[in-house]
Amino acid sequence: MLIAHTIAELREALASRRHPAFVPTMGNLHEGHIALVRQARPLGDATVASIFVNRLQFLPHEDFDSYPRTWEGDCAALRAAGCDVLFAPREADLYPEPQTFKVHPDPALADMLEGHFRPGFFVGVSTVVMKLFACVLGASGGTAVFGKKDYQQLMVIRHMVRQFALPVQIVAGETSRAPDGLALSSRNGYLSPEERQEAVALSQALRALAQAWSAAPSPSPALEAQAMQALQARGWQPDYLTVRRRSDLMAPAAGDGPGDLVALGAARLGSTRLIDNHEF
Ligand code: PAF
Repeated sequence: MLIAHTIAELREALASRRHPAFVPTMGNLHEGHIALVRQARPLGDATVASIFVNRLQFLPHEDFDSYPRTWEGDCAALRAAGCDVLFAPREADLYPEPQTFKVHPDPALADMLEGHFRPGFFVGVSTVVMKLFACVLGASGGTAVFGKKDYQQLMVIRHMVRQFALPVQIVAGETSRAPDGLALSSRNGYLSPEERQEAVALSQALRALAQAWSAAPSPSPALEAQAMQALQARGWQPDYLTVRRRSDLMAPAAGDGPGDLVALGAARLGSTRLIDNHEF
């Protein structure tokens, strides 16, 4: 695996590749990331991963400084997964001057849910992803794989690619889960052993909400409130548990039924904020 730190090194490494398949990450890799890399491998003539902890997508009180940097383990895991090129820019390589030119996603999609609780998050994500696409996929384009665990992020990126006519094909990767059902996440490492045992309750709550929604003769937001209260009673601090349309993340309309919907949730357990979703 070739490691490129600068954009010039990356472009040289990819000079003869016509259609890279790209998996952007912030490192601290787990089996979910590695599954995305394996999924990417047959989709291009070079498999490229990036590791970059993107300051722009963290709020001042969030965990940018403490976000785990696990370089050696990440490199070993990517090598074993068959990654050809790792792009690991330092901050000064990707942002040599303050990144004042930013990509602002459509507020109708990006200011709700995660964007409501983490204002500016999707501006930071869209800006870095646009820049990473320019570096890794360039003018000739390629494929990029994003996990469905970050459901809204995947939708924002798809929308950006469509609206800017970027020559990038976005492929969704299914959420990897631990045997008990907990969605794999870099932030699971923050959980104490007791919290780790409890953490699966978020995915269970979303499944239960989806079941209740499907079974109700006329489902209503009261079901969402009940799901939040149930999680709260177990010691969580939920930001949202909600049912939305998969197509635009708006509240379901009459006629939206099974196959059209997704239950999305974000909640804090102790000091760790987890997100998950369940399509139904
Ligand atoms: O999902 C992530 O890990 C990040 O948001 C991404 C897409 C790598 C951008 O920093």
